[in-house]
Amino acid sequence: MTNLFHWQLPHPVIASSSPLTAHLRAIHHLFAIGAAAVVTKTISMQPDMRTGGCIRYGELLFNRDGYSRRTLSEWEADLETLRGQKVIANIAADTPEDVANLARRVVSKGAEIVELGLSCPSVEGGPICISPDKLGPFCRAARKAVDVPLIVKLILQTSTAGNRAMISCLKNEGINGVSISDTLPGLLLDVHGNMMLGGSGGISGSPLKPLVLKSIYDIADMNVVILGMGGISSGQDVVDYLRVGASVVQVCSFLMRNGVQAMENLVQEYRSLASKNISCEAAQPKLCALQGASYSDANPI
Ligand SMILES: Cc1cc2nc3c(=O)[nH]c(=O)nc-3n(C[C@H](O)[C@H](O)[C@H](O)COP(=O)(O)O)c2cc1C
Repeated sequence: MTNLFHWQLPHPVIASSSPLTAHLRAIHHLFAIGAAAVVTKTISMQPDMRTGGCIRYGELLFNRDGYSRRTLSEWEADLETLRGQKVIANIAADTPEDVANLARRVVSKGAEIVELGLSCPSVEGGPICISPDKLGPFCRAARKAVDVPLIVKLILQTSTAGNRAMISCLKNEGINGVSISDTLPGLLLDVHGNMMLGGSGGISGSPLKPLVLKSIYDIADMNVVILGMGGISSGQDVVDYLRVGASVVQVCSFLMRNGVQAMENLVQEYRSLASKNISCEAAQPKLCALQGASYSDANPI
């Protein structure tokens, strides 16, 4: 069993916010094939009708998908139907007041955990909140509005100090957990020099994994619940995230590339590693549990 706040989950693999979690039927299907919990596509006050898209680029996915295209009322009806199931409502808005309103509305429809999706890099103007100063008022408003566990979804920062400053700020605002990482902001050009999908967007997939592991390692002793994600595509990836300090993991690009059915294998692989008594959980307080591997074990060039 895996604990996430008051929830007991059968394993730690959760479907993250994406087009795969944008509809009631898709969410039901993810549960049917074994997702321990599902995070909704980002719900906002107005449907996001901008044209987005998602393309493969080598090992990466590149997207300008934005928020959900469905209305808040449609989501309210879905959440009511899903009441009692392990659904995390991911919400975003341009102002702290609207974030508070959204939080109240999704919680009143049954959401037991809320994730603030304030780091989406593929919305016009870039991530809403990348600095603790900007993020603070949004967290404060949401915290005042609802008393369920609140998670903030972050974009990883490359400096240890940056990651730690962000967590200190969030803890001061009463935030209970962090999802790390959202897609990283990026830009791709085609052979003619045109910006793919028309502008900058979000990078996801396996190249993110070492960057996120390092960021989680930066904050793992800070007594905040960590939901890790970025490039998870195998049971071993899940174990690595848990070992470095995550309580649970979220998966997106792997399922988008291989079909949602790939969730079953991923969970199976994880279970088989866990059953071999591999220590999957980081010691708490952790960090001391990780040792340096020898150079010769690491396939030197
Ligand atoms: C096409 C696409 C759409 C996404 N939409 C959202 C979204 O609406 N809200 C959100 O918080 N994250 C969104 N994400 C980010 C994922 O939830 C996840 O944080 C990120 O892709 C990293 O995990 P991965 O490498 O397993 O994909 C999206 C990612 C992709 C590829």
